[in-house]
Amino acid sequence: MKTPVTVLGLGAMGTALARTFLAAGHPATVWNRTPGRSPELDALGAVRAKTIGDAIAASPLLVTCLLDDASVRDSLGPVAPELSGRTLVNLTNGTPAQARRAAEWAAQQGAQYLDGGIMAVPAMIGGPAAFILYSGSPAAFEQHRDDLAVLAKPTYVGSDAGLAALQDLALLSAMYGMFGGVAHALAMVSSEKLSPTAFATELLVPWLTAMLGSVTPMANELEYGAAPGAAGSNLAMQAAAFGNFIDASEDQGVDPLVLLPIQQLLDRAVAEGHGEEDMAVLVRLLVKN
Ligand SMILES: NC(=O)c1ccc[n+]([C@@H]2O[C@H](COP(=O)([O-])OP(=O)(O)OC[C@H]3O[C@@H](n4cnc5c(N)ncnc54)[C@H](OP(=O)(O)O)[C@@H]3O)[C@@H](O)[C@H]2O)c1
Repeated sequence: MKTPVTVLGLGAMGTALARTFLAAGHPATVWNRTPGRSPELDALGAVRAKTIGDAIAASPLLVTCLLDDASVRDSLGPVAPELSGRTLVNLTNGTPAQARRAAEWAAQQGAQYLDGGIMAVPAMIGGPAAFILYSGSPAAFEQHRDDLAVLAKPTYVGSDAGLAALQDLALLSAMYGMFGGVAHALAMVSSEKLSPTAFATELLVPWLTAMLGSVTPMANELEYGAAPGAAGSNLAMQAAAFGNFIDASEDQGVDPLVLLPIQQLLDRAVAEGHGEEDMAVLVRLLVKN
């Protein structure tokens, strides 16, 4: 028999997780703070626990997917003794510090703990493009790797419980930086009688795809130092051009809000003597200690 699993939290993501476990043949018990959410799970065979205590008692493998760290603490705190001997996999978005505290707290309750960062939207769960970062108990990961693999490709990143959250937030930060830039680009195009769809498909997506080729060289430079003659696009040149981005935005009636911090960073790099270097320097300027 497949491992029985309990899913705590039936928001958009928790519902997708429960549905996917059920589709893969796992007996699944579900609980949600507000009862009756996601009724479609009933027809798929989900067992609805009346209390969170009943939900925890039903399965050795517990998956939490709630709004935030406070909601996990509020929900599990009152039933902490019930966790003993179980594996808690917390897929709620949080910080590395929250994950480390949760791991310590779970250990005090006698539970194994894995923290997870879901790199997918609900519709991608169970599909080939989804992956989930895990950190925490290596034994728990080995024991439940196959169970967790039905949700998304499981990627274990270390026994320090904070490392999944750290890399989850880093990945999401890169994504939001990209979406911020995309929002600005589409605002610029919309300020004229241009088709945002044509701009996106014919120009923006190919451009971003080409620029992705710079990401790994930038990481390499950070780790191993600049390759000789690498700075083909030096920062002094980039800082000089960046003023045009801001001026053109103002001229077009577009708020340059998302560009201003990048301009500040480029100007700082040049002022601190890095004008002849390239983008990898920006990483060093961002790290505070
Ligand atoms: N959706 C995504 O695209 C996505 C992608 C990756 C990661 N995530 C992460 O997955 C987690 C869940 O996201 P979601 O999309 O499922 O959110 P959601 O649809 O807004 O659902 C939130 C869930 O949290 C519960 N909740 C909120 N406050 C609570 C509290 N104080 N005590 C107990 N339960 C509480 C809600 O219960 P009620 O029904 O009672 O309100 C509901 O089950 C989040 O941490 C999110 O960052 C989401």
